[in-house]
Amino acid sequence: MYKVSQPQKNKLNLYYNNDIIGYIVITISKNSEIIINTIYIYEKHRKCGHLKSIWPLLEIELFKSNGNGTIWLIAKELYEYYGKLVRLYESLGFSVDINKEEKCKYVGEYMYRYVYMRKEPN
Ligand SMILES: CC(C)(COP(=O)(O)OP(=O)(O)OC[C@H]1O[C@@H](n2cnc3c(N)ncnc32)[C@H](O)[C@@H]1OP(=O)(O)O)[C@@H](O)C(=O)NCCC(=O)NCCS
Repeated sequence: MYKVSQPQKNKLNLYYNNDIIGYIVITISKNSEIIINTIYIYEKHRKCGHLKSIWPLLEIELFKSNGNGTIWLIAKELYEYYGKLVRLYESLGFSVDINKEEKCKYVGEYMYRYVYMRKEPN
């Protein structure tokens, strides 16, 4: 069973069967938009589809905290896995914002694509 904590200092913890499996960090802007700064599933809990399964609950919490404003995130996608992270976020209902140019950036030796994505309330 999935559970999402109430936001504490902009951080929401994610649980599966009472185990903490990850967290997200958000900022709420003045115009009630939510920016997801970090989405993190702990390594041993990845590849089980947890993000996709917990998303509907998480989304309810997020829209509760911002009164149904837009949710934004920047997909920081490893270039060598081109498209995988963006497709994962699209499967949660996010769309690439075509008005914001994507950027490529090296972090250490790895090249990342930064893609702006947004989600409106259903
Ligand atoms: C992104 C994340 C939350 C997804 O967790 P999850 O639901 O367990 O999904 P997975 O880890 O199985 O990832 C799904 C797919 O996206 C790929 N992927 C994950 N992170 C990626 C990244 N940063 N860049 C490119 N591809 C990525 C995985 O390789 C996987 O591909 P596969 O289906 O071919 O195996 C988790 O991978 C994570 O915490 N990663 C580290 C932090 C991070 O990169 N956060 C995103 C920053 S915006």
